[in-house]
Amino acid sequence: MQGSFDDGAEAATAAAAAEAGMAFTLSTGASMTIEQVAKAAGQARWFQLYFVTRDRQVILDLVRRAEAAGYTALCVTVDNPVHGFRRWALRRGGSTRRQDSQLGNLAPYAEQIAQAAVTRPPALDRLAPPVHFPATWDDIRWLRSQTELPIVLKGILHPEDAATAMEIGLQGVFVSNHGGRQLDHGISTLEALPRVAAAVHARGGVVLMDGGVRSAPDAAIALALGADAVGLGRPVLWALAVGGQRGVSSYLTAFRTELLRTLQLLGLTGPAGLSAEHVERRTESL
Ligand SMILES: Cc1cc2nc3c(=O)[nH]c(=O)nc-3n(C[C@H](O)[C@H](O)[C@H](O)COP(=O)(O)O)c2cc1C
Repeated sequence: MQGSFDDGAEAATAAAAAEAGMAFTLSTGASMTIEQVAKAAGQARWFQLYFVTRDRQVILDLVRRAEAAGYTALCVTVDNPVHGFRRWALRRGGSTRRQDSQLGNLAPYAEQIAQAAVTRPPALDRLAPPVHFPATWDDIRWLRSQTELPIVLKGILHPEDAATAMEIGLQGVFVSNHGGRQLDHGISTLEALPRVAAAVHARGGVVLMDGGVRSAPDAAIALALGADAVGLGRPVLWALAVGGQRGVSSYLTAFRTELLRTLQLLGLTGPAGLSAEHVERRTESL
């Protein structure tokens, strides 16, 4: 949907991420296709997979396209079986996307997805195109058996879910609450992080976290509390809207510079030195 923000869309963001030495994850719901973005992206490109239909052939086709285009991991988002009740989106007619923006990746499967949409509850119709299906553990097990690509589950907040993901043979989890866009009063990712990280690290997996990371000190806190890496959502979209590829590049470069400075101010030479000792916890829940 990044075409809603700038004509360069996901290709612009992916190129800026590559320039800054950062990974880029392409959404199933992107404006541009897997293949188009692969040309602009660096080596560290991941594909975010939604179960957009119960038709596993469609899901498999998306996976095969990602493999063929050199994406190096799959990030399967599981916190969006239905969209949250997004009042701000309702005010815009039900979507955060511009009406004329494309869903590039899904165009080939329009028929299957339209059939799936017939079964959608009417009250959610205005909120949610395209519909996603709750991926079950069976779906995830099936996916694991279909591809050699590393898989991380995105949208995990509970250590038991994290442990199940690892038992299924996934490579890690993305602690995320979809940027707080799904469930008001849900737990924050920073609160969930330490327990999820303990469950995943005990089983040899990687832990990513997103939600509210705006500047390098935010990232440093997440890394100190157990994340191996953090994700950036809205700030990148804002930078894209304001300045296109150059805007994103400028934001990410500043972020990287500030991270180095933050680590230096903590007396460290690299992020590996960060630990919970660097964070003063003021609430019981953290
Ligand atoms: C406009 C918008 C679109 C999003 N689309 C997707 C998506 O297609 N797939 C997905 O896994 N997450 C999606 N997310 C959630 C982000 O991947 C991420 O979890 C969240 O934005 C992180 O929080 P932050 O924006 O505070 O950095 C979207 C978020 C926003 C704001």
